This record gives sequence, C-alpha cells and structure tokens, in this order.
Amino acid sequence: MYNAKAYSAASATSPLASAVIARREPTEHDVQIEILYCGICHSDLHQVRNEWSGVMPTVYPCVPGHEIVGRVTRTGSAVTKFGPGDLAAVGCMVDSDGTCPECQAGLEQFCPNFVLTYNFPDKHTGGVTYGGYSDSIVVDQRFVLRVPSNLDLAGAAPLLCAGITTYSPMRHWGVTKGKKVGVVGLGGLGHMAVKFAHALGAHVVVFTTSPDKKDDAVRLGADEVVLSRDTGQVAKHAGSFDFILDAVAAAHDINAYVNLLRRDGHIVMVGAPEQPLPVSVFGLLIRRRSFSGSIIGGIAETQEMLDFCGQNNITADVEVIPIQKVNEAYERLVRSDVKYRFSIDMASLRSH
Ligand SMILES: NC(=O)c1ccc[n+]([C@@H]2O[C@H](COP(=O)([O-])OP(=O)(O)OC[C@H]3O[C@@H](n4cnc5c(N)ncnc54)[C@H](OP(=O)(O)O)[C@@H]3O)[C@@H](O)[C@H]2O)c1
Ligand SMILES: [Zn+2]
Ligand SMILES: [Zn+2]
Repeated sequence: MYNAKAYSAASATSPLASAVIARREPTEHDVQIEILYCGICHSDLHQVRNEWSGVMPTVYPCVPGHEIVGRVTRTGSAVTKFGPGDLAAVGCMVDSDGTCPECQAGLEQFCPNFVLTYNFPDKHTGGVTYGGYSDSIVVDQRFVLRVPSNLDLAGAAPLLCAGITTYSPMRHWGVTKGKKVGVVGLGGLGHMAVKFAHALGAHVVVFTTSPDKKDDAVRLGADEVVLSRDTGQVAKHAGSFDFILDAVAAAHDINAYVNLLRRDGHIVMVGAPEQPLPVSVFGLLIRRRSFSGSIIGGIAETQEMLDFCGQNNITADVEVIPIQKVNEAYERLVRSDVKYRFSIDMASLRSH
C-alpha cells in the first residue's frame, strides 16, 4: 500500500476536504495512473450527500470521481496494453467478474459483480473503492481506456461518464440521420447528448429550464430549443419524437415528454433523481411508447465512444477548477449553473 492525496467527504453534511488515502501497489495486471483531470458528475454530489441512500448508501469517508484522465506511471508485469508515459482513462467501473453472460457480451455495466470506481467494496484493501478526486489511482488494465491524442485532456475527462452515458443509449436505440431526438436538461450529460445526436445526424431539440442556455444549445448542435416551463411550446411537439433522452437530476414531470413521442418512440432516463417519477400508463399505451433507463456503457463501447470523439473532435465544454473550489462547484451544480462540466485540474492537489 502507498499513500495518495485525495479530497474526501466525512459525512453527508460535511464539505469535501483534503485527506490521505491508502492505495494498493500495482499487482501484475494493474496500471497505476497519475491523475491529471477529473470531471465532476452530478452523481458525485448525489453520492457524497447520500441522496441515493435507498439504493446505494454512501460509506464514509467518500472519495468521489469517475471521469478520470491521466498518465501511466507504473504497470504490473502482465500488463500488455499500457506502458509508463501513456495517456489513460478510467470511468465508472474498475472491475467485474469477467465470466457472467453480461461480461461475455461486453456489458460489464450489468454484471452482478461489477465494482464501481468509488463507494464499492474493494477486494484489495478490504474497505471501499476511492475515486478520482485524487493524485493517483491503481486499476486493472481491463478497465483502463485509451485516450485519443488529439483531444484536450480537461475536456476529455467528462467523456468517461457523461460521454458514455449518453452515447450508449443513442447507439442502442438507433439514433441516426433523419431521427428526431429530444434532450431534456442541458447539464453535463445533456450537452454531451446534444453533441452526439448532432454528430450522428439527428434533428436535435433541447428542452431546458434555463433561458440563458438557449444560444449555447444551438452552438452545441441543437436544431431547436424549447423552454420546458412553457407548456404551450412543449405541446407543439406532441407525437413527433423518435427518441428522447432525459438527463434531469431532480424530480420533474415526465409525462409531458412521453406525450411528445410518436408511435413506438422511446423515452430513456439517464438522469437519476432520488424520488420516483410518476408515469401515466395511458401515455405509454397510446402509440405503443416505451419508457426505459440506461446506465453508463460497457468497456468496449466506452473505447468506441472515445475513438468516435477522437475522429469527430468531440470533448465536453469544461470549466477547469482547482480542487480547492470543489465545494463551491457542488453548490453551483445544484443551481444548474455550470457550462457544462467542471473538470478538476489535479495539479492543484499535488501542489496542495
Ligand atoms: N444513468 C447513468 O449512468 C448516469 C450517469 C451519470 C449521471 N447520471 C445522473 O444523471 C443526472 C444528470 O447528471 P449531470 O451530471 O448531467 O447533472 P447536471 O450537470 O447537474 O445537469 C442536470 C440538468 O438538469 C436540469 N435540471 C436540474 N434541475 C431540474 C429541475 N428541477 N427540473 C427540470 N430540469 C432540471 C438542468 O438543465 P437545464 O438548465 O437545461 O434545465 C441541469 O443542468 C444526475 O441525476 C446524475 O446522477 C446518470
Ligand atoms: Zn457520472
Ligand atoms: Zn460479469
């Protein structure tokens, strides 16, 4: 074991603060990464504040962060994919059993024995896993990804969660040229969804509660922008969408969007509000619509997404912050005041 610098929360009501954590020495299949940037996902905030206590109660101290890019510093003897000095990335998962039907299908995100990057039992240390708000991390090479060399690293970090979480459902439900696609909520996930849907050739409509994000939505690739609190504007799109991705982090009226789907249209939740959302069954019966959910994506698909971003020069729009501003960033996240992802420059932790 060795000591790493990190930022951790001691309880659901404490701010994140500087801490020292124990990491394992790399074993033969492990890659040790010096973390350069880590994105701030709204899931980090949900988890730090124990807002998902019913599903995934938080174990404290909690070191969040699952949008990690950095440089390889050491590798185990059996590591073939990476060498010291290589760029590398880690997303939401750091392990899975590798043998179940989900893993065999490349869908590690549905493995019953997967291990999330933070707040999950860690078989190596006996505690829980610690995430990317840290100066280094040690991860099995199966869960380490390659970063295309043309991408800006601060903007690439959010691809590891916000990117794959929006790319995967669009591929699964066949977003292509000619499809009408809605994106609800222009935050970290939402703005990546707009970029991907646009790059895939769809007609993209953004639904936002924030009038000041209208111009940005168009710049990011939206063909139309609707203020979601204007029910008249929303209703004009009734029965017209093939696919809607809902990336809202709080309780909201889902039925207004169900009614916008055409026959056999899909609305997919990627947002994870703490409270259940009531769904009108009649909205689904009519026009055989479906309401689904999706969570991150498998490792092979995450690499595919990163390569797609490399080819299309896609990164997140980031506000780079030092780690000392992380608590302020959380307050701004709650107010939907981020354009469109915070990315922590981990040099600020090293000099701390
Ligand atoms: N399924 C997965 O695998 C997965 C992965 C990562 C994150 N998530 C979840 O996805 C959600 C979004 O994450 P994020 O990091 O993108 O968060 P975020 O940056 O905070 O974006 C959420 C956006 O939702 C909109 N919004 C917020 N409160 C709202 C309200 N009361 N009513 C309507 N709209 C509201 C805002 O957009 P406007 O200003 O445009 O209205 C806000 O920018 C979180 O719940 C997160 O935990 C899920
Ligand atoms: Zn996330
Ligand atoms: Zn498995």
